[in-house]
Amino acid sequence: MDKIIIQGGNRLAGEVGISGAKNAALAILSSALLTDEWNTFYNVPKLKDIDTIKTLLLHIGAEVQEKGNDLKIRTRNIQNAEAPYALVKTMRASSLVLGPLLTRFKRARVSLPGGCAIGARPMNLHLLALEKMGADIKIESGYIDVKVAPRLKGAKIYFDISTVTGTENIMMAATLADGITILENAACEPEVAELADVLNNMGACIKGGGTDCITIEGVDSLKPVRHTVMPDRIEAGTFMVAAGMTKGNVLIKNCPIHNLEALAVKLQAAGVEIKTENDGVRIIGNSPLQSVDVKTLPYPGFPTDMQAQFMAMMSIANGLSVITETVFENRFMHVSELQRMGADIRIDGRNAIVKGMPFLSGAPVMATDLRASASLILAGLAAEGVTEISRVYHLDRGYERIEEKLSKLGANIKRVKA
Ligand code: EPU
Repeated sequence: MDKIIIQGGNRLAGEVGISGAKNAALAILSSALLTDEWNTFYNVPKLKDIDTIKTLLLHIGAEVQEKGNDLKIRTRNIQNAEAPYALVKTMRASSLVLGPLLTRFKRARVSLPGGCAIGARPMNLHLLALEKMGADIKIESGYIDVKVAPRLKGAKIYFDISTVTGTENIMMAATLADGITILENAACEPEVAELADVLNNMGACIKGGGTDCITIEGVDSLKPVRHTVMPDRIEAGTFMVAAGMTKGNVLIKNCPIHNLEALAVKLQAAGVEIKTENDGVRIIGNSPLQSVDVKTLPYPGFPTDMQAQFMAMMSIANGLSVITETVFENRFMHVSELQRMGADIRIDGRNAIVKGMPFLSGAPVMATDLRASASLILAGLAAEGVTEISRVYHLDRGYERIEEKLSKLGANIKRVKA
């Protein structure tokens, strides 16, 4: 298993480009199941999670052609409307094939994902919505077995909790349903809005993508699409924090700053300068870092996917910060690793109370999930001494060439084969 070794203390400086958005790409690639001609997707990031969705699409019977960051997918000869346990257990977003498979082929079999490091993450809201649309659902041998005849029916659906992949799954299912579907308390994340745009370009009739009320009028068929995946707001946010923490001066090119308002406000409150320039957003970490409180919320609130990275930053800020995680019930696994580097953090239910220390010291630490891995990288960049991060396969799920990008910015970081 690979390890990442960082000699901390270097200020980051220079320019970095942001890759395509993982979570947007996962939903968009799944939408290829809705048409039977070649779809072309550009700027697809090279990540482990993208490999998993490709493997799943191939298992289902799709044809996939790849050239650099471009992917062509055709789903004409589907033999197997199934997402097997072996794939779903490595990536919960595999469940994104459920809605498209069911609506196009009237049948789907998707493994239940089981436990997750950051929370229980059930799929009850996806299933309740499909049931309301007329699907017959059975849970057998760890699988969700869903059928519908003759076709899903439009319905009014209220999501009890705002769910990103739940909204995406049902929005895709509703495109080919009979009649109008209304999704209330829908997720407003930019990735949902982008999926709605892609589906509309396929000929779907969706209004309100990116708002909490989405209306989908079902159509009989969809046509193929060409689409460029938007830049990854969480990758960009991670580089913003990295620049701020290392007192750096970094120009983040193609930075989706309009989708990062909640993070930008908190970074500025912490003393990090953010300047919009012609070709990107410049992050300057001149002033001493100040503690600020943060509460994660669905978009446009502060993203849970930036909580761990922001906590790494608060662990070296002046003062006391309260970080509240409201989206997932167990997303503090990075805390004990940050403590090994000298961070002073106490957990009280869904709050982490972070007392900023003058410095962190490098240590051997273990990555526990994707964003936790990113927070340990950031801590390692700012720490004194050497940090050795093991289990970095988590990182490879969601950050394209991160050590190469950080090296170019002046970080002393390398990957070693253990
Ligand atoms: N929830 C339910 N029932 C459901 C669905 C969700 O109770 O049927 C709960 C979850 O347990 C959680 C909350 O609703 O407490 C929100 O979960 P959501 O469904 O929005 O999460 P997700 O769709 O599984 C996506 C991202 C995550 C990101 C969350 C929240 C993808 C592929 N994944 O997950 O990304 O953290 O939304 O923004 O889009 C990551 O990239 O590191 C990552 C974990």
